[in-house]
Amino acid sequence: MKTVKLHNKTFEVFIAETEISTIVHSMANQINISGIKNPLFIAVLNGSFLFAADIMRKINIPNCEISFIKLSSYLGTESTGEVNELIGLGQDIKNRNIVILEDIIDTGITLEKIILLLEKEEVNDIKVATLLFKPEAYKKDIEIDFIGKSIPNDFVVGYGLDYDEIGRNLPHIYKLKE
Ligand code: XMP
Ligand code: MG
Repeated sequence: MKTVKLHNKTFEVFIAETEISTIVHSMANQINISGIKNPLFIAVLNGSFLFAADIMRKINIPNCEISFIKLSSYLGTESTGEVNELIGLGQDIKNRNIVILEDIIDTGITLEKIILLLEKEEVNDIKVATLLFKPEAYKKDIEIDFIGKSIPNDFVVGYGLDYDEIGRNLPHIYKLKE
């Protein structure tokens, strides 16, 4: 399936399933040899569910764990404005070595919020692994430790990524057709 229609837009294959698999394998190897001890992988839902499932099968670090979070935002009082919280962290993560698993990092705003919230939990170390990265859109200076593939500033869907909640099931990654 070279193109796919989601809602009112047409998308074309951008990163085929076989290439995704190669990328994920290579990222797992880099993490495996990085020397991280007893890591707690934290996958950011919903987008990273397939990436997390696939990369974890290739991780061979002893005593590694995985947990899943969602970032939610709500309006606090007038003085606090928008407040963010992590949903799903049901365990004490103090002193843990965290590896954040993200599907895509765009401006970096989401990543920054997640890191601030994790730091409040007094973790020991935070590393970031993202399948896709948009360097032209990135506005933060947080170092990203493991990048699967840097891509242009195009909107992409599939392999967990959605267009208005659909397309997450697609095995390839697609981009908007011009
Ligand atoms: P920021 O800008 O905070 O964005 O780094 C991160 C979140 O935005 C979503 N995002 C995308 N989702 N295709 C998508 O399906 C894209 O091309 C795209 N770019 C950003 C995504 O939810 C990510 O976690
Ligand atoms: Mg999304």
